[in-house]
Amino acid sequence: MVNMNVKIGSVELRNPVVLAGGTCGVMGEIKDAIDLSKLGGITTKSITKEPREGNSPIRIVDHHYGMMNAIGLANEGINSFIQEQAPKATSIPTTVIGSVAGHTIDEYVAVASAMDSVKGIELVEVNVSCPNTTDGLEFGACPKQLHALLQEIRPVLKNTGMIVKLSAAAGDLRPHAHTAIECGSDALTLINTIPGLAIDVHSRKPVLSRGIGGFSGGAIHPIAVRVVREIYKDITKGTSIPIIGTGGIMRWEDAAEFILAGASTVGIGTASYVNPAISIQVASKLQTWAEKHDCSAINELVGAMQC
Ligand SMILES: Cc1cc2nc3c(=O)[nH]c(=O)nc-3n(C[C@H](O)[C@H](O)[C@H](O)COP(=O)(O)O)c2cc1C
Repeated sequence: MVNMNVKIGSVELRNPVVLAGGTCGVMGEIKDAIDLSKLGGITTKSITKEPREGNSPIRIVDHHYGMMNAIGLANEGINSFIQEQAPKATSIPTTVIGSVAGHTIDEYVAVASAMDSVKGIELVEVNVSCPNTTDGLEFGACPKQLHALLQEIRPVLKNTGMIVKLSAAAGDLRPHAHTAIECGSDALTLINTIPGLAIDVHSRKPVLSRGIGGFSGGAIHPIAVRVVREIYKDITKGTSIPIIGTGGIMRWEDAAEFILAGASTVGIGTASYVNPAISIQVASKLQTWAEKHDCSAINELVGAMQC
């Protein structure tokens, strides 16, 4: 039997498959469709300090090559989250990762601190792909700004580990990954959606009401694998910092690719909209794959791509 456990900081995940932020409900509502006890973890919707309505429709569309969304961080805000959602965390039969977002450092810190107090949330993922109110740039866009943010968040996470989720839109992510680790990140999630534009050729208007949106799904997978490989090879190899490879997993082989590139955990988003049970199938197939490679633990395959 292959040991499928993976560790993020001091938290042990049952297996390397987690559901990505914003794609499985606010607090794992997908549990009505699948058995979450067969997964390594779930990530909540990104929560901000104040409630946000998000962008007006159309804000999510199927795309020939994947999916486009411009949800605009619609969420109920941290106060309602704490009252309505947080009590459910202990009944979720897998590790719960709380995702935090904001438009100022103070907002991030307030949400992170509240998440940290929730029984049943063991890890906090910092979604740094949000524009800040001062210059409109994403917090994750430049390492200096990322440093300023993370050095304020880390101290308020007293009970939870910190994961930093980076976006490939920031270009070469090596300096950003280095900064996240320097600021005490226990893991890196790579990557978020990639900014894209889809145009309806008949109306000649953008398909999404906001115009530009985040592109996700199968077509971004090779980009995400390249990013994971670069960060693993140049930054995390030989450290205890795991990578959660996310982006375009549509079949188990995509998840295996992430592991060979250097991810020890994988995140699934868009594919759950096509087949809600895909994550469970991927977890099972990864085990069979590791057995075929004579591994006693899935960890033996992390970064094991042959050059
Ligand atoms: C509809 C939708 C909503 C998302 N919401 C969030 C979110 O709230 N927070 C976050 O960090 N990422 C969010 N993401 C990004 C995903 O977590 C993931 O990083 C991205 O979609 C790439 O993975 P995939 O190709 O498997 O979907 C969202 C993605 C989609 C498609």
